[in-house]
Amino acid sequence: MLHQEPPGPPGGFLGLSNSLRYKIDPLGFVSEMAKTYGDIVSLQLVGDYIYSKHIKKTTGLRGDYIVLLNHPGFVQQVFVDEWQKFKKPDFLKASLRGNWGDALASLEGDAWKCRRRLVQPAFHPHLMAPYATTIVACTQDMIAGWRPGALVNIDEEFLTLTARIAARTIFDAELEGFGTPIENAKRSGIINFAEAMGEDFTATQNNADAAPVSLRRRRAGPTMDTLLAIMKARFMSQEERGDMLSFLLQATDEAGQRLTHEEVVNEVLQLFFAGHHTIPTTLIWLFYALTQNPEVETRVYEELDSSLKGRTPGADDLSGLPYAEMVIKESMRFYASSLMIVREVAEDTQVGDYILKKGTLIYVSPYLLQRDPRNFEQPERFWPERFSKENTKPVYKYAFLPFGAGPRYCIGAGLALLEVRLILATIAQAYRLTLAPNQVIVPTVSLTIRPAQETYMQVSARQHLNEMGRG
Ligand code: HEM
Repeated sequence: MLHQEPPGPPGGFLGLSNSLRYKIDPLGFVSEMAKTYGDIVSLQLVGDYIYSKHIKKTTGLRGDYIVLLNHPGFVQQVFVDEWQKFKKPDFLKASLRGNWGDALASLEGDAWKCRRRLVQPAFHPHLMAPYATTIVACTQDMIAGWRPGALVNIDEEFLTLTARIAARTIFDAELEGFGTPIENAKRSGIINFAEAMGEDFTATQNNADAAPVSLRRRRAGPTMDTLLAIMKARFMSQEERGDMLSFLLQATDEAGQRLTHEEVVNEVLQLFFAGHHTIPTTLIWLFYALTQNPEVETRVYEELDSSLKGRTPGADDLSGLPYAEMVIKESMRFYASSLMIVREVAEDTQVGDYILKKGTLIYVSPYLLQRDPRNFEQPERFWPERFSKENTKPVYKYAFLPFGAGPRYCIGAGLALLEVRLILATIAQAYRLTLAPNQVIVPTVSLTIRPAQETYMQVSARQHLNEMGRG
């Protein structure tokens, strides 16, 4: 028999008590919802929540009617089998547009399909090899500034590193303060730090996205001028530089149409910022996981030393580092970086025993699914081997969602993993990182789930192990 509404908490007037509980302890609140009400939970929330301070979402007095889905079977339905019945909600699309216009992550329907087909080849594995060289070179530059015994702010270091890698792979430009003038002169330009770090996710609130693009840019404040200048110069020169911008300038759809300059700008900027929080957060949790699991850490070093024998890592070496890959996956499972992936029901649809009405918000939580004992044996144990080929109980793919699922799966997943694997190999070959004294790690929910405080780690040299490996 079909029912109208899944079970859930009463939530009080307009869902205010749910919202309050969510605001105080989002991870505790959603865990309790799943535990109490099961695989499909309805709840009302009001006000601005989820990405809290980054996305100002005004739901009005009504509050939002939300259904939280906690079963991989529902994930498969919403993201894969019936994905067209579930669209991205407008508040999310507005935030993805950021300071700019639409691009892949915020498009819908045929426009999205056409754009995805056009952009996807830019991420083909055979184009990634030169990026690997850039990733390693930038990481080596970063650690060249570290001294054994020093405390480093790894939030800042990883944010700068990944912004620098993004600038080079996407626009072949350099981030201010790096490289020699001669090297920079060969590049398309130098991006200033404030622009590279300074996306403003609130720029499109209050219907600002209805304003002309030129106005939205002004609203975004004094940022992005150099990014635009670099792209303008590239539009003029049409130079092939082996970066993603070159690829997008040349890409044609089935009708032979190219992207307009404005579409290229939007696409390139969305790609530039897409890995901005996600990759540094993944790296912070990964190095934190190593500090908490000394046996795993030792095995990572042993594999690196025996496989690379002190050599600089490159893309071709990654197949020789399977354990490190399992550690990264386990870290992305254990420390999920997204609390929720969100959709909106586009037409009345049956999910489980319920008919969900058009307009209902759907929440799917990688955090909950990846810590559910029905999906992962002993989920509270950090156990990389669960991802090994030998593990007879394979990981159910719709319960492991670091990059989403289905047609809207993260287009940058391959590049992101390449980056994380090479950064881990380059750092761990030279240095061991330990948590700074008095550093407390408490997760908070912002754009991602990340440590509430900036994370400081102490650096110590590992050269002696490399030398042993060489011998
Ligand atoms: C560890 C790093 C990353 C994580 C955890 C991550 C996570 C995700 C997730 C969960 C989605 C699906 C969102 C949804 O279904 O609503 C997504 C989509 C997307 N990601 Fe990533 N991402 C990462 C890195 C990157 C990078 C490096 C790029 C680009 C260079 C990128 C570009 C995109 C784009 C364009 C989409 C939208 C795809 C579409 O709608 O067709 N991501 N990402």
